[in-house]
Amino acid sequence: MKVFLVAGARPNFMKIAPIYRASRKVAGVNCQIVHTGQHYDYEMSQAFFEDLEIPKPTYFLDAGSGSHAVQTAKIMVAFEKICEKERPDLVMVVGDVNSTLACSIVAKKLLIKVAHVEAGLRSFDLAMPEEINRMVTDVITDYFFVTEESGRLNLLREGKPAKQIHFVGHVMIDNLLYQKRKIATTPVRRFAMTHDLKPAKGTYAFMTLHRPSNVDDKKTFMGIADAFNEIAKDMLILFPVHPRTKKMMAQFKIKFSKNIKLLPPLGFKESLFLWKDAKVVFTDSGGLQEETTALKIPCVTIRENTERPITIKLGTNVLAGTSKEGILKAYKKCFNKVKNAKIPPLWDGKAANRIWKVLKSVK
Ligand code: UD1
Repeated sequence: MKVFLVAGARPNFMKIAPIYRASRKVAGVNCQIVHTGQHYDYEMSQAFFEDLEIPKPTYFLDAGSGSHAVQTAKIMVAFEKICEKERPDLVMVVGDVNSTLACSIVAKKLLIKVAHVEAGLRSFDLAMPEEINRMVTDVITDYFFVTEESGRLNLLREGKPAKQIHFVGHVMIDNLLYQKRKIATTPVRRFAMTHDLKPAKGTYAFMTLHRPSNVDDKKTFMGIADAFNEIAKDMLILFPVHPRTKKMMAQFKIKFSKNIKLLPPLGFKESLFLWKDAKVVFTDSGGLQEETTALKIPCVTIRENTERPITIKLGTNVLAGTSKEGILKAYKKCFNKVKNAKIPPLWDGKAANRIWKVLKSVK
């Protein structure tokens, strides 16, 4: 079985790493990595391949940035060429970025089966580009691999046959547990070289912020910055800055307090090395909501909604909204959640093995 495993943007790389690793133990599977080039800066792309031990991709499509239409179209044109030439039996896409959408459409129109890892998640917010990517991908997916119960229920509600839906746990957590073991025994190289800080465990916060709805609107971004300047009176905040956020900070002349330490985008290990010992994590990313739940670290999500409700129901996540008041309120509340927090079912580091087991049985 020849499989194209597609990744394009930063949050994809940690998901394909365990899937690729597990594929090498499955007889009869020839898994080839396709990197669309949606993210291309060293810090946003290659650093992750090195960190996560992903081999060089077989295909690099060099799509780059652009409007959604331009980026999606560039990926589609390049991906169609290799699919026509190589005719894989299956195209596996992960998550919800533009590469996920582009490659699943191309595959399906060439009558190649599509597997979607992290299927069925819904924020019910169509102002989010990722929600459109998730929904369209799931309309044409053949094998749905689901991370939490809400994903299964959403797909059933949308009329998907139960036999195509496989609740396997979460490959993101496979990667997290694998990398956590690694950093316990090996020094985190790049971080040690370029920065000298690591505050004492439980004395600082870690924050990420990059969603267009948070940083592309001046009023929203200023309110968020105000909230964090307030929180920074309590503790140091480490803040690796995404390229989009950096651009908007300059454009809106946003100033952060001295107690908010701005860092370049970090590799996976560097980032984990810092947030795993944080007192609290603030984020608008999807993955960190789940990873903090898996390690029982308090998490405040700077969004109005989440497509990952299990992190709120069972885990350590609190939804703050994007106003200053909402963020400060959630910050006060989040520490109480840790005592009764639970790890969601099947978030045990074995999701990738389950995916291959399913695919072997249906092929
Ligand atoms: C994309 C994903 C988002 C994911 C995020 C993680 C979509 C629709 N969005 O958003 O779901 O959470 O990645 O990072 O697919 N840029 C660089 N270097 C790079 C890549 C981008 O400087 O390597 C710049 C671009 O020029 C652009 C901005 O960063 O100005 C945003 O990049 P883009 O890929 O459009 O979207 P993200 O915001 O990263």
